[in-house]
Amino acid sequence: MRNFASYLRVLIIVFLVFCAAEYFIDSGDKPAFIEYPQVGLFLILFTILLVSVEVVAASMNALTKALLSEEQLKEAEENSWSKNLIKKLTKTKPIEEEGEIILDHNYDGIKELDNALPPWWLYGFYATIVFAAIYLFKYHVFNGDSQKIEYEKEVAAAQIAIEEYKKTAVDLVDANTVVALTEESDIKKGEAIFQTNCVACHRADGGGAIGPNLTDDYWILGGGIKNVFHTITEGGRSGKGMIAWKQSLKPSEIQLVASYILTLHGTNPADPKAPEGDLWEAPQEPAATE
Ligand code: HEC
Repeated sequence: MRNFASYLRVLIIVFLVFCAAEYFIDSGDKPAFIEYPQVGLFLILFTILLVSVEVVAASMNALTKALLSEEQLKEAEENSWSKNLIKKLTKTKPIEEEGEIILDHNYDGIKELDNALPPWWLYGFYATIVFAAIYLFKYHVFNGDSQKIEYEKEVAAAQIAIEEYKKTAVDLVDANTVVALTEESDIKKGEAIFQTNCVACHRADGGGAIGPNLTDDYWILGGGIKNVFHTITEGGRSGKGMIAWKQSLKPSEIQLVASYILTLHGTNPADPKAPEGDLWEAPQEPAATE
C-alpha cells in the first residue's frame, strides 16, 4: 500500500513538472520536450532523482519500524504530521473528553456540545472580512474600474494594437479596402512594377497595345482604384490575355501599381489605342454632412 502511494506521488509530481514546462517554456507549435531535448533530459533525470528519494525514504521507514516497539509505533502514529494538522484545524475534543464541554440543555435527550469554532472556518471568516474591506475601499471609495470599464479599456487597447498591426501588414488590403496611394515614393514604386510586368501589353506610357489604353476615360472592367485593383488581382475576361496577377504580385504591390495606373489618366500618350469599354465616371462621394 505504501509503495503504491509513493508510485502515485512520483507520477503526480513528474506530471506537474511536465505541465509547468509546457506552460512556461515557449516552444511554438511543438511540445517543449521535443523542441528542446534538454527539457526531456531534465524530466528523466528529475524522475530518477524522485524515485531514489522515495526508495531511501521507504528504507528509512522500514528501518525505524523495525527498531521501534509496538507502543512507540502507536504513539508515532498518533503524533503523525497529518493527524496533528487536522487537530489544529478543527480543535475538536476527543470523544473521551466531551464531558467537559457538554451544555446542560437537554432537548428530549438530545444534548449539545460547546465546541470551539473550528479554526479552519474562523480564519476563512476573517479572510472574507479582510477581502470585503479591501473590496469596499477599492471599488466604492476609490472608484476602481468595474468589469465593464476594464473590458472597454482592453477592447480599446486591442483596437489600437490592431491599427498598429495593419500599418505594418500592408498586404491585408483587398478590393474593398484599397485606397489610391498618392505619395511620390509609392507612385515611383508602382511605376517600377508596371515597367517590369505590364509594358509588354500596355506600353511604357500606358497607351495600350495588346492590352487596352490605361490613360483614357474608358474602362472595360471599370475604373477607379477598387475596380483596377480587382482587375489586376483577378485578371481580365477569360481568353483576353490579362492574367490574374495575384499569383506573382503581393496585394501591396498591386495597390502600388494600381495607384500608378490612375496617375496615367489624361496623359494623352502619342499614338494611343482607341478607347475600349465604357466611359467611367467616378461614383459621387456622399456629400459630407455637417
Ligand atoms: C499579356 C499581356 C498583358 C500584360 C502583361 C498585362 N496586361 Fe493588363 N490587360 C491585358 C488585356 C488583354 C486586357 C483586357 C482584358 C479584358 O478585355 O478583359 C488588360 C486589362 C487591364 C486592365 C483593365 C483595363 C480596362 O479597360 O478595364 C488593367 C487595369 C490592367 N490590364 C492592368 C495591368 C497591369 C497593372 C499589368 C502588370 C502588372 C498588366 N495589366 C499586364 C493584357 C495584359
